[in-house]
Amino acid sequence: MAELKGKSEAGAKRVAILDFGSQYTQLIARKVRELGIYSEIFPYWVTKGELAPLSTIGGIILSGGPSSVTDEDAPLPGDFILRMGIPLLGICYGLQYISHKLGGKVAGAGRREYGFADLNVDTAHPLFSGLDEVERVWMSHGDALETIPPDFHAIAHTENAPYAAVANADDTILGVQFHPEVHHTEKGKQMLANFLFKICNLSPDWTVKSFVEMAILKIKEQVGAEKVLCALSGGVDSTVMATLIRRAIGEQLLCVLVDNGLMRQGEVEQVQGYLSAILPLEVVDAGQLFIKNLSGVEEPEEKRRIIGHTFIEVFEERARKEQGLRFLAQGTLYPDYIESVSVKGPSAIIKSHHNVGGLPEGMELELVEPLKYLFKDEVREVGRELDLPEEIVGRHPFPGPGLAVRILGEVTPQRLELVRRADAIAIEELKKADYYDKVWQALVVLLPVRTVGVMGDARTYENVVALRCVTSTDGMTADWIHLPESLLSSISTRIINEVRGINRVVYDISSKPPATIEWE
Ligand code: XMP
Repeated sequence: MAELKGKSEAGAKRVAILDFGSQYTQLIARKVRELGIYSEIFPYWVTKGELAPLSTIGGIILSGGPSSVTDEDAPLPGDFILRMGIPLLGICYGLQYISHKLGGKVAGAGRREYGFADLNVDTAHPLFSGLDEVERVWMSHGDALETIPPDFHAIAHTENAPYAAVANADDTILGVQFHPEVHHTEKGKQMLANFLFKICNLSPDWTVKSFVEMAILKIKEQVGAEKVLCALSGGVDSTVMATLIRRAIGEQLLCVLVDNGLMRQGEVEQVQGYLSAILPLEVVDAGQLFIKNLSGVEEPEEKRRIIGHTFIEVFEERARKEQGLRFLAQGTLYPDYIESVSVKGPSAIIKSHHNVGGLPEGMELELVEPLKYLFKDEVREVGRELDLPEEIVGRHPFPGPGLAVRILGEVTPQRLELVRRADAIAIEELKKADYYDKVWQALVVLLPVRTVGVMGDARTYENVVALRCVTSTDGMTADWIHLPESLLSSISTRIINEVRGINRVVYDISSKPPATIEWE
C-alpha cells in the first residue's frame, strides 16, 4: 500500500489517517501534506502489518464518520491503534471511538451540534499554542462525550460540549469534537500544525522535490530492465507521469497516445506538437473502435466501463507487438485511488473513475501508477519540478472517457461533432478574455433534449448545450464561477451562430457538492 515507505530510508516520517467514512478524510490528508508532512489514508480496519514499517509513522489521525460508536456494526479499528505509543488525534467520531474504548461514555440524544461554535481554549495546551482564548470552530456531530476516560482531561469546551477537546495525561492521545480540517474552523490548520510539530515532534520534509526523487527510485525498482507502455492522453496527469517515468527508465518507456475519437478539437495534433520535444510519441488511431463499442449505450457507468475496456484492448494489442513489455503506466491520482479502495461507509464511491474503475480482470499488463498518492494540485507542482511548460501544467483537467461523458445519452459521430465544436469555441473565448487560467475547469455538455428556437424567420428545433466553469483546488469540491456577462454572451452567441444543430446555451450554476463537475 505504502509506495513511499522508502521514506523511512531517509529518516522521514509520515502520518497515517484512519478513515471512518467522513466526507472530510481527504481534506485531513491534504492539510497535513500542505504542512510538509507526508500523509496516507487507510481504511479503519487496517492491520498493523499494512501500516508497516511502523518506525516511519510519526502520528495517527482518526477521521470523523457518520456512525455511532454504540451501534452494533460501528466501525472499530484494531485495539493496537491505542497502544502503539504513537501520538494519536481523534476527530469527531475518532474522539468518540477513543473515549468509548478507554472507559468514557458517549451519548446520542440531545447532543447534536451542527455549524459554528465558540471554542473556549486552554491556551497553555500545546494543541492550542498560539491561539486565542476563544476560537470559532465547525461542529458536525450527532453523538458527544458525556464522560471522559479516567486519565483524560478537557482542554477546550463549548457552550454545549464540556469535552470539545480532551487529552490524556502525557498528551499521547488527544481528541477534538469539532473539525479542524475544514476551512470554517478558522485556526484549524494551526491546530493540526500544533499536533504535528508540538505533539508528534515532526519536522516538515514532504516536498515535491523529495517526491520526485523517491518516485524515480520506486519506478526503477518496480520495472527493472523491462519495458513500460505509457497511455498518454496529453492531459496534465499522463504527461507528468510519462515525463517522470522517462526520467527513471529512459528508452524503456514506450509512449502511446490512443486517439479514441472522444478528444477535443485538434487535440491529437496539439499534444503531438508540444510533446515531441519531450518524449517520443506514437499515435494509435482507434476512434472507430471506440465509437462502435459505444453504440447504443446511454448509461454513464456503462460508457466508462466500455471505454476502459476498449483502452486496455488497444494497449494489449499494441503490447503484443513489443518484446519485453510487461508494464502499463496509468495516471491514477489519490482521490481516485482512495475511492477505489473505499470501504463500507468510508468516502462512498460516486463515479468509477477512469483508471481504477475500468480495468478488466485478467489484464495481461502489470500497472505502474507513480501518481497514485498525489492530489491534482500536487501533480501540477511535480510537473513544474520536472520543468514542463506552463502550457501543459496549466491545462484544464479532462476526463479519461473524454467527450463521451459530456454527451448525455448515446455517443454518435454527429453528437460528438456538436459538442467538440461548442467546446472549442468556449475554450477559445475563455482564452481570449484571459479567463482560461482563472478557471479550474471549463466544459460544455450536450443535453439529450431539443428545444424550439427561431433563426431568421424559421423555427428551429435543435440541441441544447450547458456551459460549466468552476473553481476548485483538486476537483473534490468546486464552485461555479461568475463569468463576466460579456464573456458569457460571446460564448453563447458564437456557439449558436457557428454550430449548426445547437440553438440554446445554458449556464450551470451548481456547486460540488451536491452536484459533480462533469454531468455524468
Ligand atoms: P466529478 O465529475 O466527479 O469530477 O466532480 C471531478 C474531476 O474528475 C474528472 N473526471 C474524470 N477524470 N475519468 C477521468 O480521468 C473519469 O471518468 C472522470 N470523471 C470525472 C472531472 O473532469 C473533474 O476534473
